[in-house]
Amino acid sequence: MPVTTRRPVVAGNWKMHMTIPEARELVLGLVGPAAGLEPAELIVIPPFTALAEISRLLEGTGIGVGAQNLFWEDRGAYTGEVSGPMLKDAGCTHVLVGHSERRQYFGETDQGVNRKVRAALRSGLTPIVCIGETLEEREACATGVRVGHQLEEALKDLGPEEASSLILAYEPVWAIGTGRTASPAQAEEVHARIRSFLEEKYGKERAAYAIILYGGSVKPANAYALFLEKDIDGFLVGGASLEAESFIGIAREALRADREVK
Ligand code: PGA
Repeated sequence: MPVTTRRPVVAGNWKMHMTIPEARELVLGLVGPAAGLEPAELIVIPPFTALAEISRLLEGTGIGVGAQNLFWEDRGAYTGEVSGPMLKDAGCTHVLVGHSERRQYFGETDQGVNRKVRAALRSGLTPIVCIGETLEEREACATGVRVGHQLEEALKDLGPEEASSLILAYEPVWAIGTGRTASPAQAEEVHARIRSFLEEKYGKERAAYAIILYGGSVKPANAYALFLEKDIDGFLVGGASLEAESFIGIAREALRADREVK
């Protein structure tokens, strides 16, 4: 199958924002405009507290709902943790794993990421696995090594079938929440590397189908140029996903680029 069969995916990571009423208002603003954005796939990623309510509101709309984290065990004495089956029960379709803020502030390791990826798949959730280098690593020309290592560890012991059912998100840490986006060429260089890593490991066809998102200060004004790159299949959006207009604007720009060139 040609590469053009990849649908644009735009996921909004709300981080630690939005009460339930605020979340409700935001998604109600997304439903109408999103209906005209086929075949793009939209996913919202609210905080845990709003998941059940948002899933209920979005039922039948085609908009996916993701959680921001999960624990690797399904149940037990793990105070404060939330498991895959619980997320499934709350109506989630996706879950972020290994976001750089989890790695930076909560000590998440590559090994933990791998356990969480496997837990998500076991529960029938699509993991959105985040990888990316810090500014120091980029300046030391260690981007390729760092991202390759994160990828290798995150996908450890996964069969080709499992590896094909997840989404990857390349998020350079220096571009997250800073207003400093990677240039399309900088992002494409890493995306192409990720795809060739997948190709070596799982073969050409599976790699061609893999969805690789870019994240880090994405907004409507830069989404089009980024999406034109051949290995960028969509976006993981933080700040700009907190308003319906900018989130929808990003999806529109991705679709516009998709229609023009892919
Ligand atoms: P940002 O966040 O769009 O606010 O840079 C992206 C992310 O952390 O997923």
